[in-house]
Amino acid sequence: MDYKIDLKEPIPEMIERLKREHVSLSRKLNEIEATARMDPRMALEMLETESPQILKHAVEEEARIMRVIMEKAKLDSAESVRIMQEHRWVSEFLERGLPKLKVASQEQSRSEMDKFIRDIREHFAEEEEMVFPLALKALE
Ligand SMILES: [Fe+2]
Ligand SMILES: [Fe+2]
Repeated sequence: MDYKIDLKEPIPEMIERLKREHVSLSRKLNEIEATARMDPRMALEMLETESPQILKHAVEEEARIMRVIMEKAKLDSAESVRIMQEHRWVSEFLERGLPKLKVASQEQSRSEMDKFIRDIREHFAEEEEMVFPLALKALE
């Protein structure tokens, strides 16, 4: 998928925006998790609706936040690189996993969505603990 990235948005402001997106996405994911308990089909559709926003967010992190880290804090970048590589399972699940779940059992749908939501919450937390502070420090 192709996303327009605003290269002029200053990094500190961008990080604040990405954190706000974590909050709003987490709220949506909570709703999806609750819906999946009653109606996995509906939850699947809700997650599909959020998918472009989640993927765009990840592309922006790689294109802008990670670039700053690689340019200015490469020696400290290992953990951040690992966290950014998690975007692979994020896009794998959203682009290839979700369509497959449409024809899977309700039980499998629910358990795979539950796992994805748990893992992505952890991913957001790790970014806020490690990746974003490193990018800000690299700019000092
Ligand atoms: Fe991310
Ligand atoms: Fe993020």
